Amino acid sequence: MNGQQSITLRDARPDDHEFLREMSLEAMLWREDAARPAVDELLAIPEVARYFSEWGRQGDTAVIAASGSGERLGAAWFRFFSAAEPGYGFVAEEIPELGIALSKRSRGQGLGRMLMQALIERARRMGLRGLSLSVEDGNSRAARLYTGLGFTRVQRVGTAWTMLLELT
Ligand SMILES: CC(C)(COP(=O)(O)OP(=O)(O)OC[C@H]1O[C@@H](n2cnc3c(N)ncnc32)[C@H](O)[C@@H]1OP(=O)(O)O)[C@@H](O)C(=O)NCCC(=O)NCCS
Repeated sequence: MNGQQSITLRDARPDDHEFLREMSLEAMLWREDAARPAVDELLAIPEVARYFSEWGRQGDTAVIAASGSGERLGAAWFRFFSAAEPGYGFVAEEIPELGIALSKRSRGQGLGRMLMQALIERARRMGLRGLSLSVEDGNSRAARLYTGLGFTRVQRVGTAWTMLLELT
């Protein structure tokens, strides 16, 4: 994939936190042609900020895709949410919600699938019974990726579907 470029998948480190925040915003702002609100405006929305605030708490898990030269190309991650402060794709407190985004020029080359598989493998090793996510109508590329990996639609929320991958 990516021509001659070799890709490394590795666990996120503390110095990846800023990149993870950027990728979380990319996942929310997935429509490439849409106007982008200011980052500060987005961070002022508690439902948005809770995806990456204080990243590194118990259970937070992320995989980074990097090029041979170490440039970060994308990330996939999951985090547990409470019923009191859920994510958009919340299913249960013991099932973390997953997110994924690639830098614009790294899309469409199969990297998303590699990252998802690596993250799912980590979830299995942790003994999790599932992973959930939220995908908005129109994000056909993401929906196709998730369906191909075994995620199924479990709930309609506004203009999005909550999807679940059962691991046991
Ligand atoms: C979503 C994302 C992670 C997918 O990763 P990717 O490596 O770009 O995925 P691919 O281009 O390989 O495509 C995945 C699948 O969708 C298909 N696809 C590609 N473009 C498509 C389109 N416009 N419509 C429908 N399907 C499409 C691909 O053929 C592939 O399916 P296949 O595996 O059955 O062949 C990546 O595109 C991204 O970062 N997008 C912006 C952020 C985002 O949307 N995050 C998810 C929020 S829920």
